[in-house]
Amino acid sequence: MSDPWSEHVRKVYASNLGRPARELVTPALVLDLHAAKRNLGRMVEQMGGRTAKLRPHVKGQKCVELAKMQVQAGAIGVCTATVWEAAVMSRAGIEDVLIANQVVGRQKIRTLAQAAERCRLTTAVDHPRHCDLLEEAMTATGGRLEVLIEIDVGMGRGGVRSVADAVTVARHIAKLKHVRFRGLQAYEGHCMMEPDREARIGKARQAADLTGEVIGQLAKAGFKCEVVSGGGTGTYEFTGADPRYTELQAGSYLLMDMFHGKLVSGFEQALTVMTTVVVRQGKTVVLDCGSKSICTDEAGTPMKPFPFYKARDFHEEHALFDVDDRCDLSIGDTVELIPGYSPSTINMYDVYHVVENGVVVDIWPVIPRGPGHGGWMAGATS
Ligand SMILES: Cc1ncc(COP(=O)(O)O)c(C=O)c1O
Repeated sequence: MSDPWSEHVRKVYASNLGRPARELVTPALVLDLHAAKRNLGRMVEQMGGRTAKLRPHVKGQKCVELAKMQVQAGAIGVCTATVWEAAVMSRAGIEDVLIANQVVGRQKIRTLAQAAERCRLTTAVDHPRHCDLLEEAMTATGGRLEVLIEIDVGMGRGGVRSVADAVTVARHIAKLKHVRFRGLQAYEGHCMMEPDREARIGKARQAADLTGEVIGQLAKAGFKCEVVSGGGTGTYEFTGADPRYTELQAGSYLLMDMFHGKLVSGFEQALTVMTTVVVRQGKTVVLDCGSKSICTDEAGTPMKPFPFYKARDFHEEHALFDVDDRCDLSIGDTVELIPGYSPSTINMYDVYHVVENGVVVDIWPVIPRGPGHGGWMAGATS
């Protein structure tokens, strides 16, 4: 089942089908499909034979077609950050969806309960209050929901702060009728901020050891963790290979960006923003792609044909590059930029222009943020 937003934007952008990517109205989000498929093939190969199975995080990709592509390649389901993403994924036919965060708020929990009728839905909790709110909603629908207890393994965001608290939450869940304990959410997000590989390995090991400790203590209290979910692109080689984890939540590996390119090798940059040279004054080239069109968090956004040129500055609608005699770009030429961080870049667009051999072969909608943000349409959640 397609959501109304997807149907709408497919029509709006349909005229780009068959067009050379270089002729798109810029800035435009461009997906190199062959490169993404190679990245997927590499991840599937790397994960072969491991205990942990791939459950890609789709909060960055925000795309039903990319989610399905990964499931078809063997992913056990997807992981989302928001209930809105879970609503769209479940409507699209993804059968196993994990919301890796706590869902709070009446409308959000109602949407969650509806999504639970369409797929095997699991969500994270870290407090008895979360469980009670979910139980109330599931009692109303008569459905059942599974939960992972989130444990804080070093990131300092969600998650119980002690083993004793994990046991308390598990005991609380055991008293509920509609909510069932399934295991642990143990995402070591702080490791992704560690550029030094050896230091990252050490931190990921500490996080996994802490997770192992909680698994053991819960088992002693009578609670078996069927699922232990965590890991990201920056730790897929270690957390993804740790037998204490049953799921790997890596997502950025598929499209990549400058940030993740510094953490792992072997994956290609499959996502770019097509831009146009709007000013050429001597050694300054200005592109029509500013901070409203590309995430510039990561310094040094390179131009694809000239990777040695790094952006000097981004204004809201302009990227400024200092170039030299090697650069023959002139007004009206197009070049691609590699995003500093793809999740925040994708979020700024309606659609991916899916490109093969330089030509747009498909239009894939980007899931909108949710109510209160652009693009959300009535009917998307029910
Ligand atoms: C809960 C959770 N799991 C996994 C990830 C890893 O995602 P990625 O592979 O995109 O780094 C993230 C990223 O923010 C996350 O929040």
